[in-house]
Amino acid sequence: METTPWWRDAVVYEIYVRSFADASGDGTGDLAGIRDRLPYLAELGVDAIWLTPFYPSPMADGGYDVADYRDVDPLFGSLADFDDLVADAHAHGLRLMVDIVPNHSSSAHPWFQKALASPRGSQERERYMFRDGGPEGGGSGHGEPNNWLSTFGGPAWTQVPDGQWYLHLFAPEQPDFNWRNPEVREEFLDVLRFWLDRGVDGFRIDVAMGLIKAEGLPDTDPGFTSRSPIWSRPEVHDIYRDWRRVLDSYPGTRVAIGEVWTDSAEDLALYVRPDELHQSFNFAWLEAPWSATAFRKVIDDTLKAVASPTWVLSNHDVVRHVTRYGQGSLDPGAGLARARAALLAMLALPGSAYLYQGEELGLPEVTDLPPEARQDPIFARSNGEVPGRDGCRVPLPWSGTEPPYGFGSGGSWLPQPADWTDLTAERQAADPSSTLWFYRRVLQTRRELRGTLPDAITWLESPEETLLFQRGRLICVINCGEGAVALPPHDQVLITSGPLDGAALPADTAAWLLTG
Ligand code: NOJ
Repeated sequence: METTPWWRDAVVYEIYVRSFADASGDGTGDLAGIRDRLPYLAELGVDAIWLTPFYPSPMADGGYDVADYRDVDPLFGSLADFDDLVADAHAHGLRLMVDIVPNHSSSAHPWFQKALASPRGSQERERYMFRDGGPEGGGSGHGEPNNWLSTFGGPAWTQVPDGQWYLHLFAPEQPDFNWRNPEVREEFLDVLRFWLDRGVDGFRIDVAMGLIKAEGLPDTDPGFTSRSPIWSRPEVHDIYRDWRRVLDSYPGTRVAIGEVWTDSAEDLALYVRPDELHQSFNFAWLEAPWSATAFRKVIDDTLKAVASPTWVLSNHDVVRHVTRYGQGSLDPGAGLARARAALLAMLALPGSAYLYQGEELGLPEVTDLPPEARQDPIFARSNGEVPGRDGCRVPLPWSGTEPPYGFGSGGSWLPQPADWTDLTAERQAADPSSTLWFYRRVLQTRRELRGTLPDAITWLESPEETLLFQRGRLICVINCGEGAVALPPHDQVLITSGPLDGAALPADTAAWLLTG
């Protein structure tokens, strides 16, 4: 009998490497720090870990500016440390996925350096997106080849001394590759093989919908839309068909999940056709407000569009959901009840889920980082108007009563709040009512139910601003309204995200119930 492939219902834990645990004492997280904490992750009950980029990088975008795709930055360790980490993760029963950044390299990458040193039209420039400008300049008056804007603010073009311009959908230190060039395609197939040979179980693909740009680079309406000259061009799918062939040629089940931002569930589905990626991120829930109606739409649209859904509430690019759900309140408690309830609802659904480090501790966004500490290029490129993503990247509090809370012996690259003592993993491990214990219980219960539940859910009638669905024996109810509601008929209460009010489910609370 065919068993379910591991990735279909896996819970994957995202490790933002710089901020997880620092073994070397230089204030930045590293591979050895992760290795030390594998028992914590195994005990938490996740199935796999995804590491954000740890490759050699000038760190203009926290490592998403890769200067060498086949090595480890000394800041994070060495290839030997990586091999040890893979072996140890597997020994702890954890699969390991790495981040691959194919849309752009670092401007320090030897290919880009050679492109700068070579004349227009040369083979070296053909690996990137060099273009001549025009007097119109996409309307800006500066002469750029078109009107495209960088996701991080400002134009998406930078001029080089001979007058040509190169495209960077992100920071100028992140030049976009030319994916219509077979040399680029070959190079990345080889990079995939490099890490597959070292035993990785899969890849998270950065900006997966951006690799191919429309021929002629026509002007666009800025912003993320499903289809534009920039995003989700039909030819991008050929790339993933090639990648899938490589993944399938390896023993075991090696997988790829695409970071696909789109406003259309149907478009998302294209990336996960049987000969393409295994999964695609589904950011719809992460973008939804705290509302039963909004959640129901997200769930319905997703389940209608894709056979193997994924769910995610937070990652290293967005405001942590404790804070998002806190209605603007800076008191972390305000959003914590909702964050726990949302987790329960998300993990009751068919498919796999991605957790972001620190959410198991109920960490809030750090909103008051001093300007001089901020490192996200978005902050500088917006002249400080957009705070950027540092607030969700503050190093984890492990133990003790003051910063750096056991993160390492040498401080932390972003300052941690003075009031995180009660949020440390150590403190929470000693308190069965903590968020950490809640996560462990939920993940353990999900494991116990694994393989016993159907892939389909049935909606049951429920009061306004609540959601009630059944998946085989499991019933999940979430209360996004203002008052308590009666629990639906059940045989057993399995787990709740907060205390019940007698037999009623209070506002901002969810429950898993068993029936039959
Ligand atoms: C998405 C990554 O998650 C983000 O952190 C990065 O800045 C951009 N892609 C550019 O690589």
